[in-house]
Amino acid sequence: MVSPVLLLSILLASSLSGFALASNLNQDFDITWGDGRANILNNGQLLTLSLDKTSGSGFQSKNQYLFGKIDMQIKLVPGNSAGTVTAYYLSSQGPTHDETDFEFLGNLSGDPYTLHTNVFSQGKGNREQQFHLWFDPTKDFHTYSILWNPKHIIFSVDGIPIRDFKNAESKGVAFPKNQPMRIYSSLWNADDWATRGGLIKIDWTRAPFTASYRNFNADACLWSSGTSHCASKAKAPAVSSTKNWLNQELDLTSQEKLKWVQKNHMIYDYCADVKRFPQGLPPECSVV
Ligand SMILES: *[C@@H]1O[C@H](CO)[C@@H](O)[C@H](O)[C@H]1NC(C)=O
Repeated sequence: MVSPVLLLSILLASSLSGFALASNLNQDFDITWGDGRANILNNGQLLTLSLDKTSGSGFQSKNQYLFGKIDMQIKLVPGNSAGTVTAYYLSSQGPTHDETDFEFLGNLSGDPYTLHTNVFSQGKGNREQQFHLWFDPTKDFHTYSILWNPKHIIFSVDGIPIRDFKNAESKGVAFPKNQPMRIYSSLWNADDWATRGGLIKIDWTRAPFTASYRNFNADACLWSSGTSHCASKAKAPAVSSTKNWLNQELDLTSQEKLKWVQKNHMIYDYCADVKRFPQGLPPECSVV
């Protein structure tokens, strides 16, 4: 017979660990601008950004990271979101900064959002790939992930890889691996360019526009006092999963999924834009 004391301690332990696993956005993020337009709600379970005619809003992570597997669930501005941009990205500081971007360009009701991605290394970007998603990103929360290790930056949506930016240092292309990055997000007015190249403006009668965030998870190396600490949750399972993502690449199944996305859902690829690069495509485009 299981003793009641044992049973109670099992129950306690599982509810406590359940509590520890649920992310608290108050612990991980600071609201940085927007004068009350950004809010962390429901005991840290939900974060909302909003935009009206006066201002947008934004937040940033308290931590800086150097490599990690970082997931966030986002629900984008519903309805007529034309002219709005929700940016969610990692960035370091300074003129030779590194940056990894997800930008969601709003659209008229019924027209697809554009998911715009870019990677900057040592201040150099111009590496855009854009997608129309295979679902409506305003109806529900979906998971947007960055897997960042010394060899790859892999962008995924609901666990499906959409982009694999590979280390091309052997071809003389800098790779983000020395500068810690913070997570940033903002919702702002970009109607001078965002929707159909700026043709469609924000309909302010629909304001405020709101995007929501939840279930943040960072299995990452934290940067503090000039060094990176990978096994911050120093339990055996965490250590082994850290090892996994630090060396992770796409397996064959994931490569097939990536091909499917790129064939069916990619609407722009700088690596295919020969007109833009008459002197030849950037060297990282030929890394296999
Ligand atoms: C908006 O919808 C139009 C029409 O389907 C599409 O061409 C465009 O890529 C969409 N996204 C943006 C951001 O303009």
